[in-house]
Amino acid sequence: MAINLKGRSLDSLLNFSTDEVKYLIDLSIDLKKSKYQGLQTLNRPFIGKNIAIMFQKDSTRTRCAFEVAGADLGAGVTYIGPQGSNFGKKESIEDTAKVLGRFYDGIEFRGFAQKDIDALVKYSGVPVWNGLTDEEHPTQIIADFMTMKEQLGELKNKKVVFIGDIKNNMGHSILIGAAFMGMHVTLCGPKTYHKDIRKDVIKSCEVLFARNGGSLTLSDDKIKAAKDADVIYTDVWVSLGEPFDLFDTRIGELEQFQVDMKMINSAKENIVFLHCLPAFHDDHTEFSRDIASKFGSKYPIVKNGAMEVTDEVFQSKYNKAFDQAENRLHSIKAIMLSTIGY
Ligand code: CP
Ligand code: NVA
Repeated sequence: MAINLKGRSLDSLLNFSTDEVKYLIDLSIDLKKSKYQGLQTLNRPFIGKNIAIMFQKDSTRTRCAFEVAGADLGAGVTYIGPQGSNFGKKESIEDTAKVLGRFYDGIEFRGFAQKDIDALVKYSGVPVWNGLTDEEHPTQIIADFMTMKEQLGELKNKKVVFIGDIKNNMGHSILIGAAFMGMHVTLCGPKTYHKDIRKDVIKSCEVLFARNGGSLTLSDDKIKAAKDADVIYTDVWVSLGEPFDLFDTRIGELEQFQVDMKMINSAKENIVFLHCLPAFHDDHTEFSRDIASKFGSKYPIVKNGAMEVTDEVFQSKYNKAFDQAENRLHSIKAIMLSTIGY
């Protein structure tokens, strides 16, 4: 059946079908090839169109991917930063959406509440793309499963382990992506976090697993979880918008869940390590130096500034996180191209 996503918003991936998600991944791979061949400069289907990208939380990859993809397609791009507008402070989301919908052909939004995305979809009248909320990161998922497909080929029945803060936006998003691909996903984190995986998301994914194959397993043992894994994926232990004070508690809860070579060596031989980035793997950032000096003696695993992944794993041949980061560009281009249409 032909796929037509024109006019659709990427608010939650769960509003898409398996065929639609696979279509976006395949289109992303095609657009990557076109970019490598220089073909994006021949045809700029979005000349005369404009998109707004609005961020209530900071970003490197998502912002740059939207800006470069927009330029490649010929669109004008307006960046609105966390401090740069009245959005949600002096002006309601509903009113802002009504205004932006008259200026722009599509709106990207990164924020806190999923209901803000819903309001933008409802009142703007143009495609809205979720660039990360506290609940989901759907544009990231297209790039992530695109990267897995590039590395592993057919994904059905392959095994992905998401380890660390499994209750966060990425834990839920990887679960959703795996259910579309028919993969076996293990969410590996403290037992106390297991009950915080959203029941409604599990329920929707169970329907997808029944149709597509694959399954969900919860684990609190990283070595057992890694057995037969094709992909090990982790994310920061404290997410954007959460207070720095949380690091002490989170390191205490998650120190058993750092991705190290012992975990990597317990997986399949050609394991693929992924991370949505930014990552804490050494002491080359202000934050990680601060963490190392404040908590290094209490929690020796962070004494070198690494948290969710050791520098040894990050610098190893298993790490494909930079291919994954590049794929944000190609996948965001695919999402814009298919939802705005040409
Ligand atoms: N992975 C990701 O969303 O990165 P940014 O926060 O830099 O956009
Ligand atoms: N869980 C992370 C993902 C960053 C891409 C956050 O929300 O900050």
